[in-house]
Parts: sequence; structure tokens; C-alpha cells
Amino acid sequence: MSSDEFVVTPWHVEGDIDYDKLIKRFGTQKISNELLLKLQKITGEDHFMLRRGIFFSHRDLNLILENYEKGEEFFLYTGRGPSGHTHIGHLVPWVFSKWLQDKFNVNMYFQLTDDEKFFAKQDLSLAQTTNFALENALDFIALGFKPEKTKIIINTKNIKTLYPIASQVAKKINFSNTKAVFGFTNDTNLGMIFYTSLQSAPCFIEDKQVLIPLGVDQDPHFRITRDIAPKINKTKPALIHNIMIPSLLGPGGKMSASDEKNTIFTTDSPEVVKKKINKYAFSGGQPDIDEHRKIGGNPDIDVSYQYLRIFFEHDDSKLKKIYDDYKSGKMLTGELKSILIEKINAFLSVHQQKREEARKNINDYLLKD
Ligand code: TRP
Repeated sequence: MSSDEFVVTPWHVEGDIDYDKLIKRFGTQKISNELLLKLQKITGEDHFMLRRGIFFSHRDLNLILENYEKGEEFFLYTGRGPSGHTHIGHLVPWVFSKWLQDKFNVNMYFQLTDDEKFFAKQDLSLAQTTNFALENALDFIALGFKPEKTKIIINTKNIKTLYPIASQVAKKINFSNTKAVFGFTNDTNLGMIFYTSLQSAPCFIEDKQVLIPLGVDQDPHFRITRDIAPKINKTKPALIHNIMIPSLLGPGGKMSASDEKNTIFTTDSPEVVKKKINKYAFSGGQPDIDEHRKIGGNPDIDVSYQYLRIFFEHDDSKLKKIYDDYKSGKMLTGELKSILIEKINAFLSVHQQKREEARKNINDYLLKD
């Protein structure tokens, strides 16, 4: 695959993604400075994920904010396909969603698509994906969403709520629409073909506009949802997209929960985190120390640096110092990795505790239909 070729679909991400090109290809809007300032004005905060372009693109976010300023409420929705344990890349849109819930004091729906992952993955049973859904729910709850304003939807458990809405949606989508968007063929199973209508359903669960923070690979589903919304007399969902989080093995591919050694899971022990980062994290450093001191490293392709930028180091001046020191050769790859290992393990020790506590109150979050 040549350097300007890349693939971004809900089920397949490959190549080195050029996000400006992707905005053009998908027809989304870049988050402008003006929009950033507006978000800052309303929330009273400058969130590092916005400032650093981790959330880089949107559809109708300006409308959501305009309406909000006129007193019109919205709600939040995001989701996860439970194909395995949660990895740290998944937490990006969830942490951001939690921030939005706090700032706007709005309802949040979280969809766990155990059906989707069963349809999409040859080697997973439905019992397994449903079990992962419950495990992933713990990670979501652990981030501190307000129980009175948050509902978790598990597709196979909450079909009674979803099905009437999905039916409205499904009637307006024909096979050539989904085929064009997802590249389905005659071998594609029926579950996959119907699935978009289930991912659309939570958009219309309340009679308000919805804002969806999501990985940009999920945009195609909601492009379809936005097309059909007026046909069922509903408002189009608004979206805010985050970049794909690189796997440990480096740029060109998102973190995939199906590959153990490419990924840091929220359930990993401190020893496992240390081993994975030291052994697998793609480095922008030089092959030997002398050369590294002379030429310096490349933080822009270094996965450890990228994880600090995307998630773990919120302080811009500390991040800049790491960037400069690594680039000049003053900081070695091993030193950079040990900063990251410490940050991840500090985060996970708190997270894992909250995750266990969440087992006790998961029932307060599960949607009852
Ligand atoms: N299809 C998504 C995945 O594989 C899961 C999902 C369902 C989702 N609803 C969503 C993701 C809404 C983002 C927003 O992860």
C-alpha cells in the first residue's frame, strides 16, 4: 500500500491515515478555531483532546452548540463493539464523553453491540460477545458517568427498545445504500446488512438532538443515519470524531483488541504493561545510543510519545519538554518508555479498582426495557 493510500471503514482500518484527506473523503467538517473557542466559552475549559486535535472533525457540532445556547438540550450517545476486553484506545471517546456529560449535564447512552461483533467475527460466539459487553460496561462505568443520567444498552438484551426504532430506520435503507457505503457482497451475512439500523436506533431514543463522540471509522454508519433522519421526521445526529489510536506496533492501523501483543488492555497488570511497552511499542529512536544522541529521535512516529499526547500527559509544558528532549537526542527511547509505563500503571491501578466496584452497581446503569 503506497503512503497516500489508506482504508477507514468500521470493520477495517489500514495504512497511514491523512486526516485532512479523510475529512474530504467522508465529507465531514474540520473543527475550526472558531468552534474550539465557542466550546471553550460554553464549557469554561480548554480540553487537551480538543486543543491537540485528538478530536479533529465533526458534523453539525456548531448546530448543537447554537441550539444549546438558545436553551435547547441535546443528549449524548456512543458505543463499543465488544470483541474483547477494553483497551486504552477505546477510552479516548469515553473519557471525552464523560467530560461533555459533566459540562452540559446531559443524558448519555452507551451501546454495546454484542450482535455486531458476533456477526463480524468468525471465531466469536454470541455468549462470548455478550460476556465481553458486560466486561466492557465495567470500564465505561469506572470512568464516573452519572448513574441517574446514563444508560447502557446491550443489543441482544435491549432489543425490545431498539427494534421498533431500528424498523423505522431499516425501511428507509436499501441494499444498494449499504453496499455502496460498506462494500458488502453476496457472501455478507444478513446480520451485518441489517446492523446499521441497530447502531442508528439509539440516535432516536429521545426526542432531542443527539451528539455522538466516536472514532472516525464509525462515521459511515451515521452518514446513512443522517441521510434517512428527515425521511422518518427526525433530526440528524451530530458527530464529533476522534483520530484512530495507533497500535503498539506503530502508525498505520488502529489498536485492535483481537491482537494481544499490539494492545494495552485495561485489565493488564503492571508487569504486563511494562513488558508490552518495552518489547513492542514502536519507537522513533535510532538503533544505537550514540546515533540517537547525535541525530535524535522522531516523536511524531513514536508510539510512546503519541500515547502521552493522546491520553496520558495532560500538561502541555511537560509534553513539550519530552518532545524536545526526545527530538534532540537528550532523552533515550528507554527513558521515554519508562515515563509512559509509569503513567499507564498509575492510571490503571485506580481504574482497575473502580472497575471492580462497578460490578456492584452495574444494574443501576443497564437499560431496563
Ligand atoms: N460499531 C461500534 C464498534 O464496533 C460500536 C458502536 C455502537 C458505536 N454504537 C456506536 C461506536 C456509537 C460509536 C458510536 O466499536
